[in-house]
Amino acid sequence: MRTAFLGIGGYLPPRVVSNDELAEMMETSNEWIVERTGIRTRHWIDRECGASDLAVPASRQALADAGVAPEEIDCIILATLSPDHTFPGTACFLQEKLGLKGIPALDIRNQCSGFIYSLAVADAFIKTGQYRRILLVGAEVHSTGLDKTTRGRDVACLFGDGAGAAVLGPCEETERGVLSTHLHADGRYARELWIEVPGSRFFPQRLDVAMVEQGRHFPRMNGRRVFVEAVRRMPEVIGEALAANSLSVDDIDLFVPHQANQRITEAVAKQIGMPAEKVFSNIDKVGNTTAASIPLCLRDACLQGKLQRGHLVLLASFGAGFTWAAALLRW
Ligand code: UT7
Repeated sequence: MRTAFLGIGGYLPPRVVSNDELAEMMETSNEWIVERTGIRTRHWIDRECGASDLAVPASRQALADAGVAPEEIDCIILATLSPDHTFPGTACFLQEKLGLKGIPALDIRNQCSGFIYSLAVADAFIKTGQYRRILLVGAEVHSTGLDKTTRGRDVACLFGDGAGAAVLGPCEETERGVLSTHLHADGRYARELWIEVPGSRFFPQRLDVAMVEQGRHFPRMNGRRVFVEAVRRMPEVIGEALAANSLSVDDIDLFVPHQANQRITEAVAKQIGMPAEKVFSNIDKVGNTTAASIPLCLRDACLQGKLQRGHLVLLASFGAGFTWAAALLRW
């Protein structure tokens, strides 16, 4: 028995923000962003809206795609780095909005690796028989948390809002489902990409005016370090996943990397010898949506006919923590 994707869904808020629009807010240009990142547009919310609100239409689409009624869901796992509130977890707000009372609602906080980390948890729950219909969601609202001045341009040009969702369940067909997941982290780099405040470690209070004036409540990143480590760690964990299943790159039908930067995707693909036609990207239209990035790609790949039943799919991610992960699955 394996854990299969029964349905997939996604949602992007309607407002499309071009690079030229960003250039009106900060010193940047369409040319710089396209050349360094491959991003042309991203979606940003245009009204009060949390990660759980974006998750609702994505979840409903995944449920419809799976042919599963909401009441059949027996567990929600939601990955986000942009929770609706500090606590409780965003999965609780999603549970309420979907009208699903009593089932467990779990938040996962592993940033760009959040979806694969969540998949690993869901896979374990399903394999042990604890749950049979898990709603797995990655949802992010970045736009209201970015420093949209020149000071924050390295981060602000990358991130977009959105949500992706999947319905997972046990599958008796052994040729279908998750083959394995591989998770890693290295906390020595935790401060290379982070939002420092508010934080419980600060005394006497976790947030004050000086911190805000210093911009410590905005995401800050050592972009070069992230780039170098991503290009080193993703091929490493992909090699681990392939070896664990006695598979090679030639066996893969579709490679779906986390959408961090098109140059990272191309460097990783080159390093592992994956031909460009097997690599899925949508970063040009949606930017980096962290935990939502992989499920949004899976949804788009299905819509475009690039992902079909029986395909062997390789997922890989790298992000804050640092965390990195890979998964192999038969769609
Ligand atoms: O999912 C994980 C999340 N994060 C990532 O994956 C990020 C990984 N890193 C990157 O994608 C790249 O490092 C960036 C796209 C963020 C930056 O590209 P880079 O080629 O590494 O540029 P850099 O950081 O070395 O900066 C080069 C210059 C700097 O100016 P000076 O110091 O040379 O005068 C930056 O200030 O580019 C400047 N710069 C910008 N210029 C125009 C940084 N961001 C921008 C911008 N527009 N948006």
